[in-house]
Amino acid sequence: MKVSAAVCPYCEGTGWKSVSNGSDRRVTRCDCRLQARTQALLAAARIPKRYEHCELSNFEFDGPHRALAPSRMAACKFVEEYPLDNTGLLLIGSIGVGKTHLAVGIIKELIVGKGIACLFYDYRELLKQIQNSYNDSVKATELDVLRPVFDTEVLVLDELGAVKPTEWVWDTVSLILNTRYNDNRTTIITTNFDDRPAGAVAGPRGAAREETLGDRIGERMRSRLHEMCRIIKMEGEDFRQKFRSASFR
Ligand SMILES: Nc1ncnc2c1ncn2[C@@H]1O[C@H](COP(=O)(O)OP(=O)(O)O)[C@@H](O)[C@H]1O
Ligand SMILES: [Mg+2]
Ligand SMILES: [Zn+2]
Repeated sequence: MKVSAAVCPYCEGTGWKSVSNGSDRRVTRCDCRLQARTQALLAAARIPKRYEHCELSNFEFDGPHRALAPSRMAACKFVEEYPLDNTGLLLIGSIGVGKTHLAVGIIKELIVGKGIACLFYDYRELLKQIQNSYNDSVKATELDVLRPVFDTEVLVLDELGAVKPTEWVWDTVSLILNTRYNDNRTTIITTNFDDRPAGAVAGPRGAAREETLGDRIGERMRSRLHEMCRIIKMEGEDFRQKFRSASFR
């Protein structure tokens, strides 16, 4: 016998419940079905465990964090206006400033509030999975990995540029961004690299110069991103070091 989940007491498992308002009786979709859909979408989004706590509602933006208020505002506005305005976001800032938190907070709101399919991928992890798929002993093909990345309505690509660029890396990132661009899909990107052209930043004499987004993904893809995304510069301290270090000791 199949052990099924507890039967919903409101709809007795039918997914429909009747609501009465005086003499007016109607049948509507039961919340249990909506919740099931939300749960399925959340699972499909593959949000990593360490970011599960991230919500727009617990993203701090006052007191010492007030420099983040415009970024949080832009995130809320994005959620509100999606999908009428489906321009993506490019969240730029140094490590620990809260880019991933904000990106995860956004897709959770889209899932829970609007029932929209979203997918989270760390850039390094994605490239690793694609590379792995070339290995004959791995069952998943390149397209198995890429299909959800191409097709999911809203994609978060976290830490764009974090892999040392090679021709293969550039080709792969171009394929992903161009496919999503051509299909008019929304992409939310985070990066630690400055949004400047390749070779733009000269380091002090003798020191390695700081790399830019242009260096890491190429100028073509950087300008493609400008067509796909609204840019949000996030300024602040490393949240982990400055504000949470006590709890990590
Ligand atoms: N404004 C904020 N309010 C609450 N938590 C934050 C905020 N900014 C960062 N954090 C937390 O600090 C940690 C690092 O943030 P994260 O989003 O991973 O930074 P980034 O992606 O910019 O490197 C996470 O646990 C995150 O939840
Ligand atoms: Mg991050
Ligand atoms: Zn029900």
